[in-house]
Amino acid sequence: MAYTDDSVADGAASAIPPVDDFATDWDFNDPAWVNDPFPIWEDLRDRCPMGHSERFNEGVWLPLNYDDIVGIAGDTVTFSNVHHGIRRGGTVDRGYFPPINTDPPDHMEIRRTLLPFFAPRRIEGWRSHVAADCEARAAAIASQGRGDAAVDYSQHIPVGAIAAILGIDPADGDKFRAWIFDILSVGPSDGAVMQQAIIEVREYMAKVMAERRAVPGDDLISHLVTTEMGGEPLPDHLIERMLVLQLIAGIDTTWSSIGAALWHLAVHDDDRRRLIAEPELLPTAMEEFLRAYAPVNVARRVTTDTEVNGVEMKAGDHVMMTFPIGCRDPERFERADEVVIDRGENRHIAFGAGIHRCIGSNLARLEMEIALETWLRHIPEYSIAPGADVTWSTGQIRGPRSIPIVVD
Ligand code: HEM
Repeated sequence: MAYTDDSVADGAASAIPPVDDFATDWDFNDPAWVNDPFPIWEDLRDRCPMGHSERFNEGVWLPLNYDDIVGIAGDTVTFSNVHHGIRRGGTVDRGYFPPINTDPPDHMEIRRTLLPFFAPRRIEGWRSHVAADCEARAAAIASQGRGDAAVDYSQHIPVGAIAAILGIDPADGDKFRAWIFDILSVGPSDGAVMQQAIIEVREYMAKVMAERRAVPGDDLISHLVTTEMGGEPLPDHLIERMLVLQLIAGIDTTWSSIGAALWHLAVHDDDRRRLIAEPELLPTAMEEFLRAYAPVNVARRVTTDTEVNGVEMKAGDHVMMTFPIGCRDPERFERADEVVIDRGENRHIAFGAGIHRCIGSNLARLEMEIALETWLRHIPEYSIAPGADVTWSTGQIRGPRSIPIVVD
């Protein structure tokens, strides 16, 4: 599907063939890339206009600069979002999770049904819910004197927010995480597990949809079962798939961004102390964390032979939309490889570009702002636990999956 078509289960990265040259054989599951991709990107930019790899599908291009990525995102005729999944050893049809797996004209019609629910004022209404969740979790870690900033904190915040938005029992959060793990992490190597998880999510959503039709609330599911598209109610199968996308798109992404920011602040005492002394910097710092540690790469399929930046592409090729690489393009950003928490202009593309630009950006920002502010208030001094390993995810969404810390 949309985001992590080729993630492999954490820990399986070492099973893939080693990469000799990322310019001709890039692989975002290679341990060097997983742990520290930034020097690799810098090296590639000096050597070629675009990387390439035949490890996935019939070949996947790797754009290396901001303008190429934004240009490709803007050309939805040549670069399609339909069936854009990539997989080791062959193209895979990842199914249909609208609006991300759609092209114009269908895309905008479907996207429009979601937009009112993700407008800034509507999202602001979830503030107290997210804040209560963050307070409880940060206070618990502070009182224990140690914890895992990814496992005990960051990963729970988007799950709690989505549960509130869908109007479902937060106790079902564990089910969500298990389904997402089966879809995103186990799925690429075991399609049956992924299909089973998708069936279970859809059944779960179908049951809640029936309940909301009977008694509507102010949640997203009630909104979708009562809204119209072209004068008609949305068909159930469409709503179910849109809801699966909400889980897939809204959880690992935000978990990754909050976690990366907390990791950065654990290993950069100067930035952490400055942010505490000057809390008014939080908005610019947050945008800078989003830019510097942008988590999401998404693929496109080339529909007709074309050329980008001197690179000849064939119909059927795929292109990885490397938003994180574009966010560190030195032609676009001064001191691109540094984290500058008071950076002025910051037109990053962590949330994508063009018609598929992230619909959940207001929600992601709300969660991130509250998560960072609350953590720093409860745990102003902390560091990586001595001897502990920080681990990062593999595949199309990059973020820390374990950040063991001690409260100093
Ligand atoms: C820091 C967190 C997040 C990041 C970095 C992020 C990033 C992105 C990116 C790069 C895209 C563009 C995909 C493409 O071009 O094909 C996208 C699309 C999308 N995102 Fe997010 N996202 C985040 C959080 C969320 C949240 C919280 C939600 C909802 C609960 C969400 C829902 C969506 C949806 C529905 C789309 C598809 C929009 C369309 O196709 O029109 N995202 N996101």
